[in-house]
Amino acid sequence: MAISRATQDLLTRVENDAPMGQYLRENFWFPACRSKALEADAPPRAVRLLGRNYVAFRATDGRVGFFPEGCPHRGVSLTLARNEENALRCIYHGWKFGVDGKVLEVPTQRENHDAFCKKVPLKHFPVKEGGGLVFVWLGSGEPAQLPDYEFMGIPDDQLHVTYQKLPYNWLQGVEGQVDSAHVTQLHKDLVQAFAATGRPEAMAAGDEAPEIEFDDFPGGFRYGAIRNLADGRRYVRMTGYSLPWYSYIPFEGGTCVIHVPEDDTTTALYMMRYNADGPLKPDHLNPAEDADNFPPYLTAGREDRWGQQRDLMKRTSFAGFPGHAIQEDFAVAESQGEIADRTTEFLNAADHAVVRVRKLYEDAVMRWLDGNPVAIEEPEVLAGGLMVPEGVDWRDREKASEFVVH
Ligand code: FES
Ligand SMILES: [Fe+2]
Repeated sequence: MAISRATQDLLTRVENDAPMGQYLRENFWFPACRSKALEADAPPRAVRLLGRNYVAFRATDGRVGFFPEGCPHRGVSLTLARNEENALRCIYHGWKFGVDGKVLEVPTQRENHDAFCKKVPLKHFPVKEGGGLVFVWLGSGEPAQLPDYEFMGIPDDQLHVTYQKLPYNWLQGVEGQVDSAHVTQLHKDLVQAFAATGRPEAMAAGDEAPEIEFDDFPGGFRYGAIRNLADGRRYVRMTGYSLPWYSYIPFEGGTCVIHVPEDDTTTALYMMRYNADGPLKPDHLNPAEDADNFPPYLTAGREDRWGQQRDLMKRTSFAGFPGHAIQEDFAVAESQGEIADRTTEFLNAADHAVVRVRKLYEDAVMRWLDGNPVAIEEPEVLAGGLMVPEGVDWRDREKASEFVVH
């Protein structure tokens, strides 16, 4: 069932006073950039969230400051500012802003200098770091506690964080993330490569139509793709989705994919790869480097079919993209348009997770507007593989925990 224009707008729009934007802003810490993207006294960084522009910088002593991008004097971009002495100094008139949000110096003001400084309306946002990310609190109230996400507290060399700016609406990214039915089609090349080397992911990824079961929890859901094995056991590949934008997949240790709305038509994608138990394994799905921007997959657009190679499709490739599987995801999502039109869709049974995730967001926003917000209660395990004997339900958290195999 397609959805109405009003519902689509409710789910996708985040700018200005859109309810979704307000809900996200008032309830959650936002990933703002990779921690490594900010170096002490290095150039400040432009950050865009919910259609507004900010500046982030790492001060001399390592703390992170976060302000609106425009200087409170006359709006010059503070990404142009000098970053020194634990402060940003606007290059236009030299006003100096401390990392903690205090106005330290207004060189163009002689009289009552200190009193004047106190009156300058510099806005300053709380920041925390964890899991290789800088998080910012944009809400008007007291910051919530920053949740202890699975990728937090992992040693530096066992965690890779990649940031990519995507030229389409955030919900499109989210939907692609929970849409497991596309894996055996769009990513056929990868599945075949896995099968050729006998990797276990091939079994899970290569299952064209597994049985699907959901396990809802407040603020999210886990879903299990189930295969019945010859010995009576069931292999369950479990993935999880949790508000506001965290998608967990069982891949090479741990993988969390995060889609943060920069504005209505631009999304920040963070690909978190981690292994709590040891070094990261070589990566077959995602670029392994800890960096801003994947290899240049997004240089081609609609005019040149997002870089698709038709000659390759004749010979070896299903979808025609020679790079990582992620290039295929980017191409199809961007091809749906800046904001995919859900009012004209024609869905089938394999779209149940897409429908589920829309419902999750719709309920979350409506309940928040009603003054009864969802309290997120994640189960301990959000993603993994289980071999469950007959008579045990994988959704029974206590019983199933002993049958986790990866
Ligand atoms: S605009 Fe920044 S100091 Fe004047
Ligand atoms: Fe994909």
